Amino acid sequence: MTSSILASKIYTKEELCLFEKIPAPCAIIVFGASGDLAHRKLYPALFHLFKEGLLPKHFYIVGFARTGMSVEAFRASITESLPATTPSARVSDFVSRCDYMSGSYSDPRCFSELKERLRASDLHFSVPERHLFYLSTPPSVVEEIIHQLGASGLAKKQKESHGCVAVIIEKPFGHSLASAQDLNGKIKKVLKEKQIYRIDHYLGKETVQNILMFRFANILFEPVWNRNFIDHVQITAIEDLGVEHRAGYYEKAGVLRDMVQNHLLQLITLIAMEPPSSLEADAVRDRKCDVLKSVRILKEEDVLQSTICAQYAKGNIGSRPVAGYREEPGVSPTSKIPTFAAMKLELDDWRWQGVPFYVRSGKRLAERRVEIAVHFKHVPTSIFKPLLADQLSANILKFRIQPNEAITMSFEAKHPGPKLCMSTVTMDFGYQRTFGTPPPESYARLFLDAMLGDQTLFARSDEVEESWEIVEPLLQYWESGATSPLPTYPSGSMGPKESEDLIHRDDRAWD
Ligand code: BG6
Repeated sequence: MTSSILASKIYTKEELCLFEKIPAPCAIIVFGASGDLAHRKLYPALFHLFKEGLLPKHFYIVGFARTGMSVEAFRASITESLPATTPSARVSDFVSRCDYMSGSYSDPRCFSELKERLRASDLHFSVPERHLFYLSTPPSVVEEIIHQLGASGLAKKQKESHGCVAVIIEKPFGHSLASAQDLNGKIKKVLKEKQIYRIDHYLGKETVQNILMFRFANILFEPVWNRNFIDHVQITAIEDLGVEHRAGYYEKAGVLRDMVQNHLLQLITLIAMEPPSSLEADAVRDRKCDVLKSVRILKEEDVLQSTICAQYAKGNIGSRPVAGYREEPGVSPTSKIPTFAAMKLELDDWRWQGVPFYVRSGKRLAERRVEIAVHFKHVPTSIFKPLLADQLSANILKFRIQPNEAITMSFEAKHPGPKLCMSTVTMDFGYQRTFGTPPPESYARLFLDAMLGDQTLFARSDEVEESWEIVEPLLQYWESGATSPLPTYPSGSMGPKESEDLIHRDDRAWD
């Protein structure tokens, strides 16, 4: 992040804000260029950086995908994906730097052709052979693309720490612990870890980055950030959308690979980590990895007690009737893929021993909300008799990641007047209200960091493998068909009853 270059001198906060980091000239090559993610997130993010003057003066983009398409059609599809309000001259300038090539991810001739194109474009756009490859592809083709990049000479291990060639790889990284280990092994034959950017877009969200700022730039919270004061933590990442048109991918992933193995475990690391020695990438990732190592791995016999997976059935989102998961286009009518998961995780370390982390995520639920709630303990005794200590609401600190990004703290307050009357009130910091602007898209920030060679917000190979180790027993249990059929929940609800039971058993309730 604010790397060692800055650390050597003392700056004021205001001076630090003036630093604009502009990457060196480079080319961005997007594999999976005709796909949904590229159009929904990547091109708008790159355009945003371009518009804000954060891309280097010398840059160009090449899209590569299996779909046959002319360069003009590709440029038109990018234009369509950009905000309609943008002045057309800016858009024309941006798309004029975009080229397209269709081909097979396993055909060496296509990669030779790509190499030739990059050589010509490097000359044309004055880019000195600095190539950032973005793999916005299904996980099944990642290994092949990396192999072809290596075999064609487009990618090779760089001597210097931040290479001229870097590869960004979308999640999920692998399909299981074994496949992730295998993939890491194969990629590291072609590239150094310093050149590999395993992206998790949750880490680029402003409110997620704010967790570290909140915890370590303030004195107030860290002394109570432990088992002595915190009762439990809840992490909720739910959405009202269904699988949409992504059945091909989702039928192989399900909620455990799609959300839990990456986004949700990453959120736990930021809440639970010890203070890193600096914001350098490896200092932060070492501490995050410690958290993952301390998550208790569930034994086979505990999986049913501590986790629940389910699939959405038909129902209503608002007043709109929607289909069940098995009736969605492209989904098998006998699919066992879970679209909802809830679990209780425990961390075996000094800070968090005995503090459960309840985590849930699902599609087609009643609302869209991503939130971390830190529930503090009750006061030890009440002086406000006849009210008892557990009748006074415990403090809850919430990181509202989306929508309405905010950090809020609840506490007990007295009503005006002579009566002993109190209720729970909230102090809040609202992102939009304070900064007057909605938080920027996470992909823009992550693109920029990858171009700058900053890996802080990207997962390291050991983090990814530790995360797979945590979800592996869940995958084995819930995919084995042991609970056949999988529990269901009506679309538009808050998930299956078993998810409520999971937390009620501990005399607690979901927020
Ligand atoms: C993606 C998942 O990584 O995150 C999707 O593949 C999910 O299934 C999405 O909908 C949620 O992201 P966000 O940023 O909307 O919370």
